[in-house]
Amino acid sequence: MLEIKNLTVEVGGKEILHDLSLSVKAGYTTVLFGPNGSGKSTLLMTIMGFSEYKVKNGSILLNGEDITHMPVNERAKRGIGMMMQRPPNLTGVRLKDLVRIAGKGEVDPAVLAEGLDMTRFLERDVNVGFSGGEIKRSEILQLEAQKPCLLLLDEPESGVDMVSIEKLGLKVHDILQGQSHCAGWREKSGKAALIITHTGQILDYVEGDRGYVMCDGTVACSGNPRELLAEIRKMGYNECIRCKLKRPNVVENL
Ligand SMILES: Nc1ncnc2c1ncn2[C@@H]1O[C@H](COP(=O)(O)OP(=O)(O)OP(=O)(O)O)[C@@H](O)[C@H]1O
Ligand SMILES: [Mg+2]
Repeated sequence: MLEIKNLTVEVGGKEILHDLSLSVKAGYTTVLFGPNGSGKSTLLMTIMGFSEYKVKNGSILLNGEDITHMPVNERAKRGIGMMMQRPPNLTGVRLKDLVRIAGKGEVDPAVLAEGLDMTRFLERDVNVGFSGGEIKRSEILQLEAQKPCLLLLDEPESGVDMVSIEKLGLKVHDILQGQSHCAGWREKSGKAALIITHTGQILDYVEGDRGYVMCDGTVACSGNPRELLAEIRKMGYNECIRCKLKRPNVVENL
């Protein structure tokens, strides 16, 4: 579904991603690990198409279509949806209105909000004064309305309490299983997710099929996500860097 080839990206005049290649198959959940500052969020923001993220080289293909330089709204229309790590405050925009717009007027914000215990936030401005966990639930509420085909989740469980994690995890599962707002080929080929996680908690609700570890702005290694997580817990990230140095063409061989 998503094919990223030799991607080099600059942010604020600094090269953050270097020659990065990875793919996300339709119907599969791909998990992204990596130490702080390794470029995970930069990759997701680039896939979504935020304009500060300048692609200097390489390409991003969505089901064969080149979206490398496509504006963010066009990517959203094609079925990419994102939960940001730190979404902005939208002063003057009520959550209720944003959910309605994300759902193209076809969803009832009150019904969706109830399932995520977000009813009392609907009249509030998006993210303004929300706690960390409330922001994550607000993000998933918007995604539930949007029904994307490719879900980009940046640390969905971070800062979320244990009870809310279950609700949020089940929602992610439902979004991946349920109907989508993407017509034609996208509907047929199934949905996919690219999820950044440090703890792997989200994997209790969504089965990860493939994992990648990012280091210094590129993919260092790949494998089964649960095995990768266990390795990282045991050995840290240095082993991934060593693995990449030993097998520099590891990504091409995937
Ligand atoms: N606008 C910018 N100007 C300069 N450097 C930036 C800018 N945006 C991001 N960076 C740098 O790019 C690097 C990668 O950041 P990114 O947010 O992608 O990391 P991450 O892997 O998501 O980390 P974390 O796990 O902490 O969320 C960091 O060193 C960050 O400081
Ligand atoms: Mg990040």
